[in-house]
Amino acid sequence: MKAVQIYGGTNPLPHEHSGKKKMLIAIAVVVPLLIIVVAILTAWWIKRKKYNGENIGRTWQIVGEGFPKLESRQFSYNDLKKITNQFKTSIGTGGFGSVYLGLLEDGVQVAVKMHSNMSAQGVKELLAEAASLTRVHHKNLVSLMGYCIDENCMALVYEFMQGGNLHDKLTHNDRPLAWKQRLRIANESAQGLEYLHKACNPPLIHRDVKTTNILLTENLEAKLADFGLSRVFNNEAVVTHVSTRVVGTPGYLDPEYYLSNQLSTKSDVFSFGVVLLELITGRRPVVAGLDEGNLVQWVHQRLSEGDIKSIVDPKMQDGFDINSVWKVTNLACKCTEFTSSERPTMTAVVAELKESLDLESSATEMHTGATNSLITDVSHDSLEISFQSGMPAASGPSVR
Ligand SMILES: *[C@@H]1O[C@H](CO)[C@@H](O)[C@H](O)[C@H]1NC(C)=O
Ligand SMILES: *[C@@H]1O[C@H](CO)[C@@H](O)[C@H](O)[C@H]1NC(C)=O
Repeated sequence: MKAVQIYGGTNPLPHEHSGKKKMLIAIAVVVPLLIIVVAILTAWWIKRKKYNGENIGRTWQIVGEGFPKLESRQFSYNDLKKITNQFKTSIGTGGFGSVYLGLLEDGVQVAVKMHSNMSAQGVKELLAEAASLTRVHHKNLVSLMGYCIDENCMALVYEFMQGGNLHDKLTHNDRPLAWKQRLRIANESAQGLEYLHKACNPPLIHRDVKTTNILLTENLEAKLADFGLSRVFNNEAVVTHVSTRVVGTPGYLDPEYYLSNQLSTKSDVFSFGVVLLELITGRRPVVAGLDEGNLVQWVHQRLSEGDIKSIVDPKMQDGFDINSVWKVTNLACKCTEFTSSERPTMTAVVAELKESLDLESSATEMHTGATNSLITDVSHDSLEISFQSGMPAASGPSVR
């Protein structure tokens, strides 16, 4: 009785009033909840928008869901037959099969890289890697435009590079590359590699940086090829025979990685240093039968004798600024340090190469000659370069 009285109060609510009260309570609960949900969604949307905006503002771009046409195009075996005109024009042989020239509907030339004989595990890994790599775009990286994975074939479709690879350009004697062109190629391939290290999260380690993987356009613009997939293919090729999982090409292989099996971006820096030495000397990274062994040792040997000019590719004749060559040689030596922590980051390498390019440009403007004789006997040590490797790492979106 007492309870009823309290419940009813002095002004007992009629039945319809209590219904209204329930509704009021419901609204009081639901509306704030809705507001919270809307607020969260809005915040998420704004953040996402800002994030996309940031991406577009950088030199690199990772294609998102909004561009289905650009994202990982899948080809069937019949598509490949059509675009390569029945595999008519072979443009080379990779370690894993032939490469054919193809033509897409829109007139774009492509290189179709066939891969034969993969295990089921290899196919699975390739599929995962290829899908993510078609999203990696930079003007100094050869674009993976699509792939074909079915029971008839395994193939990767790349942008076609008319100028061939850097190794061929360096070894062929007709129309040798001038120093300035070599510097440009070094700068551009360094930019591509830096992108892989910084824009991709976790860093995409190339694992097989070498002159045959630096491809050139008709105008000698350089792009780095074959990134991201060497692990898949090298696992296939190597693991069955060798107990270690070391991946790479003799002459370019980071000795620390070889010993410790610890791979890092600095392993790519080592290989890039060897590429720089090839650009300077025009020599191959490993010379069979040579007393000095590999190119890194050969250059050190010559430099210890104090003669920079004796390492320079004779094909360049006198068409270079010796200061600029010195600077790049010094950089290459830093990159090929035995201990990875003493090697610069690719960001520092890019900065150094820019300075070398500036030196070469200003020397060209002053019509060199005079400067050449001036600097020849500057000692190696006086050109020590300090690297700022403490640059903040860009936190790009995840690619893999
Ligand atoms: C495929 O691989 C096996 C073993 O590695 C080899 O014996 C065979 O010849 C290969 N087949 C082709 C078509 O390459
Ligand atoms: C180095 O390469 C980048 C990327 O391709 C280019 O934007 C830049 O102008 C080049 N730097 C020099 C000094 O040529």
